[in-house]
Amino acid sequence: MKWRVIYLKILSVVGARPNFVKMFPLTETIRKTKHDHILVHTGQHYDINMSDVFFKEMGVEPADYNLGVGSGLHGYQTGEMLKEIEQVIIENEPDVVIVPGDTNSTISGALAASKLHVKVAHLEAGLRSFNKMMPEEINRILTDHCSDLLFCPTQVAVRNLKNEGITNNVHKTGDTMYEIAFMIEDKVNALPRREDIPDEYILSTIHRAENTIDEKLPKIMDELGQLHLPVVLPLHPRTKNMLKALNILEKAEEKVIIIEPVGFFEFSKLLKESQAIITDSGGVQKEAYWHKKPCVTVREQTEWLETIEAGGNILANPGEIKEKLAIMLSKEISFNEDLYGYKDTSSRILKILETLEK
Ligand code: UD1
Ligand code: UDP
Repeated sequence: MKWRVIYLKILSVVGARPNFVKMFPLTETIRKTKHDHILVHTGQHYDINMSDVFFKEMGVEPADYNLGVGSGLHGYQTGEMLKEIEQVIIENEPDVVIVPGDTNSTISGALAASKLHVKVAHLEAGLRSFNKMMPEEINRILTDHCSDLLFCPTQVAVRNLKNEGITNNVHKTGDTMYEIAFMIEDKVNALPRREDIPDEYILSTIHRAENTIDEKLPKIMDELGQLHLPVVLPLHPRTKNMLKALNILEKAEEKVIIIEPVGFFEFSKLLKESQAIITDSGGVQKEAYWHKKPCVTVREQTEWLETIEAGGNILANPGEIKEKLAIMLSKEISFNEDLYGYKDTSSRILKILETLEK
């Protein structure tokens, strides 16, 4: 019998900051093969420091397509993406469409591909916060239910899918964010220290829709300004807009070291050199764990349960941040558990993709 190597035409859909980070290791792995890879950027994030900076620092060419969809209400944004991605898929006839994460770009890519009967591979499948008020939770559930291949970072994610009746083509492959953290280690260590950052500080990111509201954001900002160490806050544009709308941006700048959003390398350096993390980000909770930083997560639930169970992370409502931070700083945390798998996740994923029938 003769072996026949079949090269795949892979199309990936990214659009928001976490999508870029999750996709880079796999982009790099595919680039080293003869498979064809078409990268589609929906344009959900478009500021230089929310988008271009990530491609530049990773040395990755800008996406093959930038759909320029931009900001808007969920229906508008998702609808525009769906319409545009559909055309790109029709034009390119890929064998598989990869969608990383849980953003509006993710669900749009998954929906467009599945309705065209093109196979969908979900990178970071099976995560659940069990809070349907979060737009990301809707995106995760719907994306998983229309995916043909489900790449789970953890056993908890595999179990979540099983509980929803999804057991076929579910693979525990580990987390590409874990892989990238080690891919870039030397470059991060080589970065000079910023002069506007004190020797000791707490790094914070706050941007979730559920926290950037009138009832919560002023309270969170007040608390960040009252901790025992200065807080460095790379400010997400959603949060900046809300601080401006509430007329409290200047007040916040007096209490907290507010900087522009930074690239992934610089963010990783800030994280590694911090004393602790306060965040509502999904990705940052995990990064805190593998860089051994105590983390307070300003949310009611987290989809990254393992970090809580391992003792490295704690949930806090606005009003509880100081108290929860004190708990985290007063206890010994081992950070020894290997929660997120392998440093070759993207190769594992590609091997599974290569078993796809054309
Ligand atoms: C999105 C994701 C969220 C993720 C976050 C990562 C969804 C539903 N949410 O939230 O899961 O945690 O990205 O950062 O997909 N804006 C700019 N410039 C930009 C991008 C956004 O000014 O380059 C402003 C716009 O006013 C926009 C707002 O930020 O309306 C929110 O952006 P959007 O992409 O809708 O949601 P995120 O909050 O970024
Ligand atoms: N991040 C970054 N610059 C910043 C803030 C965050 O590079 O100014 C990185 C961070 O490492 C994080 C990733 O971007 O893991 C994804 O971002 P975000 O927190 O925006 O999204 P989420 O994980 O909450 O969906």
